[in-house]
Amino acid sequence: MNPAPFRLERYFAVHEFTARYLMCSSDPESLSIADLLAFEPGSMEGLGRTWLGYTEYPGAPELRRELATLYESIDIDNLIVHTGAQEAIFSFVNSMLKAGDHMIVHMPSYQSHYSVAEALGVSVSPWRARESENWALDPGELEKLVRPETKAVLICAPHNPTGYLPDRERFDAVVDFARRRNLWLFSDEVYRGLEHDPAERLPAACDLYEKAISLGALSKSHGLAGLRVGWVATRDRDVLAGMSAFKDYLTISNSAPSEYLAAIAVRNTSALIERNMSIIRNNLAVLDTFFARYHEILEWRRPSAGTVAFPRLKRGGAERFCAEVLERTGVLLLPSTLLDHGNEHVRVGLGRRNMPDVLQILENYLRERGTK
Ligand SMILES: Cc1ncc(COP(=O)(O)O)c(C=O)c1O
Repeated sequence: MNPAPFRLERYFAVHEFTARYLMCSSDPESLSIADLLAFEPGSMEGLGRTWLGYTEYPGAPELRRELATLYESIDIDNLIVHTGAQEAIFSFVNSMLKAGDHMIVHMPSYQSHYSVAEALGVSVSPWRARESENWALDPGELEKLVRPETKAVLICAPHNPTGYLPDRERFDAVVDFARRRNLWLFSDEVYRGLEHDPAERLPAACDLYEKAISLGALSKSHGLAGLRVGWVATRDRDVLAGMSAFKDYLTISNSAPSEYLAAIAVRNTSALIERNMSIIRNNLAVLDTFFARYHEILEWRRPSAGTVAFPRLKRGGAERFCAEVLERTGVLLLPSTLLDHGNEHVRVGLGRRNMPDVLQILENYLRERGTK
C-alpha cells in the first residue's frame, strides 16, 4: 500500500514549527501537563504512579469508562482507543474495506478520509458540500452515488475545513440512507462539542445507528493534540473485531501516560470545551468585522461549529496568496489546493488565543498591498 502524500501534513511538516504565526491550525489552544493536572488534586501523584507496562489493547479500562459517558448506548467494550484519530481512520479502512469496494466520502475533506481507501484499491465517490448553501450536504445525492459494491459512507460533522454542521433532519436522512442500504456510516466527530450554538449539537452517530462508527479524539474538542488519543465508538461487532485485530500491527496498545492524562481530560470535558469555545467565540467576533472590512476581496461564510473556516478569495489564486502572505508577514494560512478543492479558498483557524494579533499582522499587509 502506497498512499498519496498527505498534502496538508507535508505542508505543516515544512511550516508548522518555522512559520512565525500560525493562522490555519485546526487544533485549538493547548495546555501544559501541569495545567491539565490542576483540574484534579492528587493527579500529579497518580501520574507518577502510572505503570509503564503495556496497557490493554483497546485502551485502559479507566479511560474507556470515561469515554463511554460521552455516549448514550456505548459501554467500555464498544470502544477502541487509538493513537490519535488518524490511526483509527487508517485502521477502519484497512480492516473493513478491500480492493473493489466503494465508499462515498464527504468532500472537501481531511485527506486520510479518501487517500487511504484509494491506496487500497477502494473506489471513492466524492459527496460534495455545496458552498452556495453554506457548505450544506444534500442527503438526496446519496442515492445517485451508491453502487452495488458500496460498503461505507464517510461524513465529517462538524466539518473540517468549512465549519459546516448539518441540522438534525439532514443527519437523520444520512443515517436512514445508511441503514436502508446496510452500509457502515463512518462519522468523523472529532470536532463534536465545539458547536458555536450548543443547542445545535447532533447526537453521536453510534447512538443512532448500529452500523455507525463514531470517531472521537482529544486533539480538537479538548485541545490536547499532543496526547495523541483518539478512539472509535461503535456497536458493530465486526468492526470491533476487525479493528482490534488490525491494531496489533499498528501501535498494539496506547501510551500509558497519555491514557492516564486522557482520562482526566474526558472527566473535565465541559470545562475544556468551554475554555476552547470562549476563545473561538471571541475570535469569530473579530473575524466577522475583519471580513466585513475586506468583503471586496474575501467572501466569508461564518462556520457553525469547530475550529476552522474556509473563506473564498474573490481574486487571484489561494496558493499564491498564502505564499505571499507567509513570505511578507510570517503568517501561515492554508490554501485549498492542499485540500483538493480548487485554488480559491483559504483555511483559517479559530481556536488560538493569539488569532486577533495575527489577524492584525495580516490586515496590515493587506492594507499596505491594497485590495488588488
Ligand atoms: C476531520 C479530522 N479527522 C481526523 C483528524 C486527525 O486527528 P488526530 O490529530 O487526533 O489524529 C483531523 C486532524 O486535523 C481532522 O481534522
